Amino acid sequence: MAAYTTENIDPKHHDALMAWQRKNFPELDFLQRNWTKFYASQTPFQLFAKIGKLNSESIQFGRMAGQPRYEHAGDMVGNMFYSARDIIRAQASTELGSIQQHRLTLEEAPSDQMKMAVLRIMAEELRHGYQMFWVLDHDKTWKKPGHPDVAQDTMDELLAMELGDHVLDAFNIPFVNFLDNVVFATAIDLVGKYQLEMQKVFSYAPMARSMGPMLSEEGFHIGSGRGFLRDLAVSAATDDGARYSIEDIQRTINMWIPRGVEMFGNERGGETALAFGFKDRNNGTAQSEYYNEVREVLELVNVAVVQAKVKDVTAPDARSIVREVQDTGESIRGVEPEDLLFAPDTKFFRARGMEDIVFMPYDVNGKLLTEDGRPVSGEKYLEYLAGVLPDYYMKDREFAKYREALLGREAPQPGRSYGW
Ligand SMILES: [Fe+2]
Ligand SMILES: [Fe+2]
Repeated sequence: MAAYTTENIDPKHHDALMAWQRKNFPELDFLQRNWTKFYASQTPFQLFAKIGKLNSESIQFGRMAGQPRYEHAGDMVGNMFYSARDIIRAQASTELGSIQQHRLTLEEAPSDQMKMAVLRIMAEELRHGYQMFWVLDHDKTWKKPGHPDVAQDTMDELLAMELGDHVLDAFNIPFVNFLDNVVFATAIDLVGKYQLEMQKVFSYAPMARSMGPMLSEEGFHIGSGRGFLRDLAVSAATDDGARYSIEDIQRTINMWIPRGVEMFGNERGGETALAFGFKDRNNGTAQSEYYNEVREVLELVNVAVVQAKVKDVTAPDARSIVREVQDTGESIRGVEPEDLLFAPDTKFFRARGMEDIVFMPYDVNGKLLTEDGRPVSGEKYLEYLAGVLPDYYMKDREFAKYREALLGREAPQPGRSYGW
């Protein structure tokens, strides 16, 4: 028995999303024509909503724990109604935004396998966008009597979003080379996995039922990212003619991880989502679990690098070498610190979150850069960042926003809560 049933959305919204696809993702046809060549054992892609099962009928967390879950958005009152809408909107924005990003560098894929994987990721993100549309579309109570049509307005807004308009910063950064596709699938899709995992408990039932099928698709995105990252790192460390160096990869990691860390929202917050029974963990807990997993992923990449460089070394021995090289900063059996990747500290290059770390000049190791006992100036920090971030990224308009805020020319917008 399938783990889910399927549904289509109202033809009006279905067609609107198809028109969006033709404009933003015309390569979908190519993927569908070539699907069986690459994914013979898997059911061909189809655009519909997948409705999974709830793992419990009742609300599990927060103020309403023990009560039945909400089937109708209209039964949620006040802030709860709009908070649920904000999460659905943020979720859908990530799905559509990532398609726009992946497409920019699709043709740079080093192999057909990598190109097909990115196309499949894009198709599945389109289905996730469709899924969020289903949540808004099938439940007519999003339109409350005497209020604006929240579902319609949200879908219209989502379909009009271009890079730069998306809810979360990570989805406004244009990809410039294929490392972006790979590191993004490794680090940013992993945030997605945490969000979906947490939202299985969602007190609004249609959202909770959407999570299981989406999670199984995310497995492919994250797995592809990790596999390709390992391959690119191994070739960087062992092949003089490799397209990307370890330094290129490290700079790309330094640019994406802080945006991933911020997607959890302020690390001291998240209590409202817990109180409404939308999630099962607060922001800080989820963020630190995420960060530990990122470190583990990069350590496994390093293990593969060491095994490629040192003859006949077992995985556990390779791991010891990785740790020793990174702890001591010395070269061991031909492995240099510069051959290995690491996760920048969570305080590095932050624009959102706790006030005591945002826009503060922390280095990649989490050390505050100081001069005469005081944090270095914004200008000095920009010089430091130029040494650890991709130069193309520092020319981008998303980075310009950070620079302006750092230099105090434009204060970061307070108020509106940030995060997913
Ligand atoms: Fe997704
Ligand atoms: Fe994904």
